[in-house]
Amino acid sequence: MKIRPLDEQDYASVVELGKKLRNTDDGKGWFTEDAYQKNIPFDICIQKGFVAEGGGNILGFITYTSYDTPPMTPLIGWIAVDPSHHRKGIGANLIEKVETEILKTGVKELYVETPTREAGIGSDYESTYEFYLGVGFVLDKVRLKNAPDNNCGCDMAVLRRVLE
Ligand SMILES: CC(C)(COP(=O)(O)OP(=O)(O)OC[C@H]1O[C@@H](n2cnc3c(N)ncnc32)[C@H](O)[C@@H]1OP(=O)(O)O)[C@@H](O)C(=O)NCCC(=O)NCCS
Repeated sequence: MKIRPLDEQDYASVVELGKKLRNTDDGKGWFTEDAYQKNIPFDICIQKGFVAEGGGNILGFITYTSYDTPPMTPLIGWIAVDPSHHRKGIGANLIEKVETEILKTGVKELYVETPTREAGIGSDYESTYEFYLGVGFVLDKVRLKNAPDNNCGCDMAVLRRVLE
């Protein structure tokens, strides 16, 4: 498995990967139709990122962007790993690669947003929350479902990791 920068030739494979992780009527999965049909295709063109490649296939990807509060603080945009390759360290490797890039800028923290542990109970977001804790993020604050800056439909956890 190799991790390399995301480039234009990866766009179609990355969108297909997002589609594999779509949520279904039984409440399983992660990404909404808007996410894989609109948001991911747009964001991968404007955000920086990396892909994990193995056997000629894209097995995972990550993007990152700057965050407005606190100023100039990086935020993970999207991260996904092919379900048949979960729990093999690919997600952790993608995060590590982003961290290395951020440290080069002198910034020493990274944020990510995901449904709170409570909001994720009973869904696959339970494992997502565990993943972030597993790679060293801690809860920084909660953006409540009804807050004006929250359009995610559930309470969102803002998780922070201090980079060394
Ligand atoms: C979240 C995701 C990217 C993690 O990728 P991954 O390659 O499976 O994760 P890793 O194998 O690198 O896991 C690293 C560590 O995180 C923790 N972890 C990961 N998955 C976990 C799970 N299901 N339960 C508990 N801990 C978990 C563990 O500590 C793990 O280390 P270990 O395997 O040595 O115990 C992947 O599950 C995924 O694509 N999820 C769907 C999309 C998604 O949730 N995106 C983020 C939206 S906010």
